[in-house]
Amino acid sequence: MSVSAAELSAMARARELGMGVLGTTSPNPAVGAVVLAADGTPVGEGATAPPGGPHAEVRALAQAGERARGGTAVVTLEPCAHTGRTGPCTEALIAAGVARVVVAVPEPTQLAGGGAARLRAAGIEVELGVEQQAAEEGALGAWLTGVREHRPFVVWKVAGTLDGRVAAADGSSRWVTGPEARAAVHRLRATCDAVVVGSGTALADDPQLTVRDAELPPTHPAAARQPLRVVLDRRGRLPGTARVLDDAAPTLVSVAAGPQELLEELFARDVRRVLLEGGPTLAAAFLREGLVDEAVVHLAPKLLGAGAPLVGDLGITGIGDALTLSVVGLTRLGGDVEIRLRPNRHTGDRRVADHRGATGGS
Ligand SMILES: NC(=O)c1ccc[n+]([C@@H]2O[C@H](COP(=O)([O-])OP(=O)(O)OC[C@H]3O[C@@H](n4cnc5c(N)ncnc54)[C@H](OP(=O)(O)O)[C@@H]3O)[C@@H](O)[C@H]2O)c1
Repeated sequence: MSVSAAELSAMARARELGMGVLGTTSPNPAVGAVVLAADGTPVGEGATAPPGGPHAEVRALAQAGERARGGTAVVTLEPCAHTGRTGPCTEALIAAGVARVVVAVPEPTQLAGGGAARLRAAGIEVELGVEQQAAEEGALGAWLTGVREHRPFVVWKVAGTLDGRVAAADGSSRWVTGPEARAAVHRLRATCDAVVVGSGTALADDPQLTVRDAELPPTHPAAARQPLRVVLDRRGRLPGTARVLDDAAPTLVSVAAGPQELLEELFARDVRRVLLEGGPTLAAAFLREGLVDEAVVHLAPKLLGAGAPLVGDLGITGIGDALTLSVVGLTRLGGDVEIRLRPNRHTGDRRVADHRGATGGS
């Protein structure tokens, strides 16, 4: 496979474009596309519009116009060959006269598949699997989890002190972290379709769970929308006066028996990316069931010595059984530190193996 430096830098830009619309495209994938003219100059770029709107390639081609002829389209996901709410992207690429299409992730669904074959049949050169892993771990991750496991991707966010406390002994927990970390939480919420807490957090903190101060430009598709707020409240303890029940965003009060049932309920509502902001009890329930895909931990350089822990009982007694995670990102947010992690899943993980088996996997 031979891919030019211009195509690789266009692919990096396409991934970035996809990340820019994360949280606004579900149940569709957040795809990014860049069109290069025949001489390798970028002449158009685009990302998936909210459902019903144009796909990334179509937007990038529209920007490129005639300059796309003889050029290359660089896309994070294989262009679709089927007519859904919008026409097939393959036909738009053929009509635009591109000579070459460079793709990161082959389309995993049968419904939209066959794009590369259709393009090749029309005489277009197609490269598949270019920097595939980076695209899969980026904006396409949530959608791919949906395709492979029929459940939303779960990001667990928690803010704690250096000694792993999320609240003080008296229960107070406001402002564990500083303004930069709190603003980052709002940006993170904007990338998700739903924000989930347990009744414990709803009662203790009375959070509103909306996206505020995310510093999004007014034209950004996420600026006009709020994720679904979800409270897991099996015993009906949430008072009618709770802020989460105001009219600032839609809210679901769920009595689902467990995280698995809740995720099924959310998946059926087209939710593909969930932010778990619940307290230690709910976090432990998701972690025990292997249902956390990414963790975003905000650590404040403070010590409390007592108070609620970062996570509740995981049923682990020996160090050899510790749940291990890999650090995938480290950022300073004002005086605090953000650590992004992914739980290590190995083939010995019974729950993951059983679950994949049950849903067919890919
Ligand atoms: N610093 C932070 O980032 C942060 C974030 C969140 C919370 N907190 C702090 O955490 C504390 C609250 O902790 P918490 O553990 O009580 O809150 P939580 O985990 O949000 O809520 C726990 C409650 O969720 C309900 N629930 C529903 N389905 C569940 C399931 N499948 N598994 C487990 N629980 C389920 C249970 O009540 P029912 O049985 O009634 O349904 C349970 O008591 C507060 O002090 C809060 O300030 C801190």
